[in-house]
Amino acid sequence: MKIAVAGTGYVGLVTGVCLASKGHEVTCVDVDENKVKIMKNGDSPIYEPGLSELMKEHKNNLVFTTDYEEAYREAEVIFIGVGTPEKQDGSANLSYVFEVAKQIAQTVQRDCVVVIKSTVPIGTNDKIESYIRDKQKNKDVCIYVASNPEFLSQGTAVKDTLCASRIVIGVEEVFPGEVLKKVYEKFDVPKLIVKRRSAEMIKYASNDFLALKISYINEIANLCEIVGANIEEVTEGMGYDARIGHRFLNAGIGYGGSCFPKDTKALNWLANFNDNEIRTIRAAIEVNENQKFKLIKKAKKYYDDFLFLNVAVLGCTFKPGTDDLREAVSLVNVPLLLEDGANVRIWDPVGMENFKKKYPNKIQYCNSIEEAITDADICLILTEWEEIKNFDLRKYEKLMKKPIVLDGRNCYQLEEVKKTNITYDSIGRYTVNPQ
Ligand code: UGA
Repeated sequence: MKIAVAGTGYVGLVTGVCLASKGHEVTCVDVDENKVKIMKNGDSPIYEPGLSELMKEHKNNLVFTTDYEEAYREAEVIFIGVGTPEKQDGSANLSYVFEVAKQIAQTVQRDCVVVIKSTVPIGTNDKIESYIRDKQKNKDVCIYVASNPEFLSQGTAVKDTLCASRIVIGVEEVFPGEVLKKVYEKFDVPKLIVKRRSAEMIKYASNDFLALKISYINEIANLCEIVGANIEEVTEGMGYDARIGHRFLNAGIGYGGSCFPKDTKALNWLANFNDNEIRTIRAAIEVNENQKFKLIKKAKKYYDDFLFLNVAVLGCTFKPGTDDLREAVSLVNVPLLLEDGANVRIWDPVGMENFKKKYPNKIQYCNSIEEAITDADICLILTEWEEIKNFDLRKYEKLMKKPIVLDGRNCYQLEEVKKTNITYDSIGRYTVNPQ
């Protein structure tokens, strides 16, 4: 089928490339000329395992352009995968989605289905459909709007799309549902056809449930520290109950990224806007905000302040497998350390270039974990990169001025740390070699 995709961020580009891999003729549109140039050269502008390879393999089915007219005019299906960033009040900014809708209304010359992949508040698909139908230049063509939220995670986006847990299709009529079934014909995964508003809600309710699960387990972890239980043993025991499951029970210093923080706030805003309250989500947000300060609070047990201290920060992305810093806990912790006068040394395998753009000065960017921890007075682990998990614990002992490691992602087994002299304080577990 002839498909156009608006926006080449994580959602748009991964969707476009995966659809091309199933034989569709896909044109990806972006306003950013520089990005389009990179993609035309066969490279991916984002760091996502497997994406460049798939782009290269299916380059004959892929076109990249800034020319939306050309892309939308004859498309049978147009996916909208542009960003819906958070506004000051917590609501979702829909201006990019509406901008694309306007372009579609002005250019489309055949019946087509516009598919909203971006995460949008409940009722937005209805508004977009009315908006397009109202503004459409060629009144002879019929434009339908369908909701098709994505459930991909950064770092596993290609796999999450090709082997999705489910494909949710939200439609009000039979025709767009049939078209989307054809688009996803070759995806051997469960497909669910629901009403548009339900599809929009499935996306928010899923993300917010996962955020809630993380905040819940973080609170349990905090209590474990007080009462002497071990969160890892607790979650292992809980997870065997199939109703609970083992996944997304990793306690830490809070969730980040471009989705959970934004989507929890957006649902909370939507509830308030409708004179309603969604107290569980509000609690998840509050717990997460506090959790980000967990390591700084722990550090105060060892030092009154950070003035002139060498502080090693390992990991700055919001999770491993991505160079994305959006809502990363490093963006809260590092400024606090700097304000307090610390000499901050950061190591991250892929995130440092982006961090440097925000903090070009004052921070020492290190090429290795060894370099970051040498002569450090304390070390904070913020992202659970494999390189950190596999790092030889003896080196902390050997290289640091004082081997105090505060681990916000529970990277090490307590039994292993016990074999060293490191003072090791993690989340929801007892401190090894307390001072
Ligand atoms: C999330 C969802 O997992 C996807 O299903 C969804 O499609 C996506 O948002 C989206 O809406 O676009 P993503 O933000 O890429 O995906 O990352 P996650 O793997 O969900 O992690 C989010 C944050 O939660 C990270 O900071 C991670 O460290 C944290 N987390 C995750 C925990 O603290 N504990 C866990 O057990 C799991």
